[in-house]
Amino acid sequence: MNVLLINGSPKGHGSNSIRLAKSFIEGFCEGAGNCNIEELNLPSMKIGACRGCFACWRATPGVCCIKDDMQTVLEKEQNADLIVWSFPLYYFNVPGLLKNMIDRQLPMSLPFMAERTDGCGNGSHEARIDMSRVKHVLVSTCGFWTAEGNYDSVTRMFDHFLGKDNYTTIFCGQGELFRVKELSKQTDEYLNLVKKAGIEYANGSISDDTERKLKEPLLPKDIFERTADASWGVSKESGEKLSEDLIFTKQMAALYNKSAYDGKDRVLEMNYTDLGTSYQILFTKDGSKVITDHSLASTTIINTPFEVWSAISRGEMEGSEALGKGLYSVNGDFSLMLKWNDFFYSRGNGADSESKTDKNNESKKKDLKNPSMTTMLIPWIAFWIAVSIQPKIGALITLGICALLPLIMGKHRFVIWDKLSIALVALLSVFANLTNKGDITTNAGYLLFGLLWLSSCVVKEPLCATYVKYSYGSDAAFRNPLFMKTNYVLAACWGMLYVLTAVWTWFLRKAELDLLALIINNAVPVLMGIFTAWFQKWYPAHLAKGKN
Ligand SMILES: Cc1cc2nc3c(=O)[nH]c(=O)nc-3n(C[C@H](O)[C@H](O)[C@H](O)COP(=O)(O)O)c2cc1C
Repeated sequence: MNVLLINGSPKGHGSNSIRLAKSFIEGFCEGAGNCNIEELNLPSMKIGACRGCFACWRATPGVCCIKDDMQTVLEKEQNADLIVWSFPLYYFNVPGLLKNMIDRQLPMSLPFMAERTDGCGNGSHEARIDMSRVKHVLVSTCGFWTAEGNYDSVTRMFDHFLGKDNYTTIFCGQGELFRVKELSKQTDEYLNLVKKAGIEYANGSISDDTERKLKEPLLPKDIFERTADASWGVSKESGEKLSEDLIFTKQMAALYNKSAYDGKDRVLEMNYTDLGTSYQILFTKDGSKVITDHSLASTTIINTPFEVWSAISRGEMEGSEALGKGLYSVNGDFSLMLKWNDFFYSRGNGADSESKTDKNNESKKKDLKNPSMTTMLIPWIAFWIAVSIQPKIGALITLGICALLPLIMGKHRFVIWDKLSIALVALLSVFANLTNKGDITTNAGYLLFGLLWLSSCVVKEPLCATYVKYSYGSDAAFRNPLFMKTNYVLAACWGMLYVLTAVWTWFLRKAELDLLALIINNAVPVLMGIFTAWFQKWYPAHLAKGKN
């Protein structure tokens, strides 16, 4: 397969559109197997404007009188099986550079008048050389938020030039995002999709699903337009040139996803420690605003070298990981950090992307219903209550509850800790039923329950993390050292508490202080629950202040 890539962007190799075109060709060649790719970079070629002399029709049929690189273009076109036309949208059409090259296609046509048979206008010229076997794909980016409705002139021209329905198109809005490193997650995701389109095209045609996804905007309209406005580095109000850190802060503010507003106005202070500058971003239900005069009281302050934060936003570093390593610190209200992924838009909240994969996994798991810690707790609570009242009957009741658990908690996915709990409680219940020994078995239950928690401290996923990770970006939470440390500490605390419960219960019962044991054993988990609720907020914020 001979593939000819025609780069019609005046930006040459720096073109946004060419990145899409190359991804398409990569996919196409993967799908087609064997490919020979040639690229024509129009801005670096010498192609003069058509003089309109018709010498190629009259004096030297099929040969243009201008001696420049156009001869090479025509030869390569004739050699190609697939031509990929890559170009930006300029004033709702192709750039002059490409139009110039298209005008110079005249030697490829015969001069004689012919009927137009495809209903696309009136009048035609037959081809001098049969190019009907050549396939064409147009790949283009434009600057507005969507390509929809902006390519009518382009398609009209190519309808006449290549023939209606004789070419395939990939038109993408928000083209300038492809040069923004900070948004590479979003743009890489799109490029992967374009590559997929290439594979599908090689196997017949681009699927409806891929076509639909290719038309989805990279960023929602309002977020894109705010980000684009901020990217020019010029104040919208005064026209003044802005500093790099302020442009960056404005772009960050532009990515604010106001649907994440939780009823609380927030003021985030970005304190760039290496530059000695700081800016505030006000987040309200109506949107975000960058404040440069520090007129507001900051609710959260991020102290960071500018480079560190830029690297995080370029996706070169995971923010939570950098925080865990003390590369930056956070003071004040930490809830913003915990909600970061909801607060700032990315395609896939979106891209290559790790976060996209997490999101996909998350939604797949959502279909399977997220697990609930209640599933794990029900067998234990039922066991402790029922068996301490009456070991034999209580054990049977507990076994019944374990058997019915899939019905009771049918809305939730069962994880390893749920299954282990059911198995352990079932074993203990059988033992209680056979021996009629309520005290020993309930106490053994405390010990096993404690050991279950403690054992989770030596595996990748501490017990509590399995259930709460869905509020922290699902599996992405495992890359968050603050989340992991918090959950390991909590799992260890709960584990120790129940091992100790087994110990003191044994002593208290021995001393015939059963009532005291009952009171303590009911009060302590409640107190521990209150501690957990406080600790899971306090500890990450404490670590984020750089106090680890
Ligand atoms: C002279 C000029 C005219 C443009 N006209 C349009 C236009 O009509 N509509 C649009 O959406 N974008 C327009 N743009 C934006 C480009 O299409 C957009 O930046 C594109 O991504 C550039 O692609 P490239 O990097 O492949 O050259 C224009 C840009 C320039 C420089």
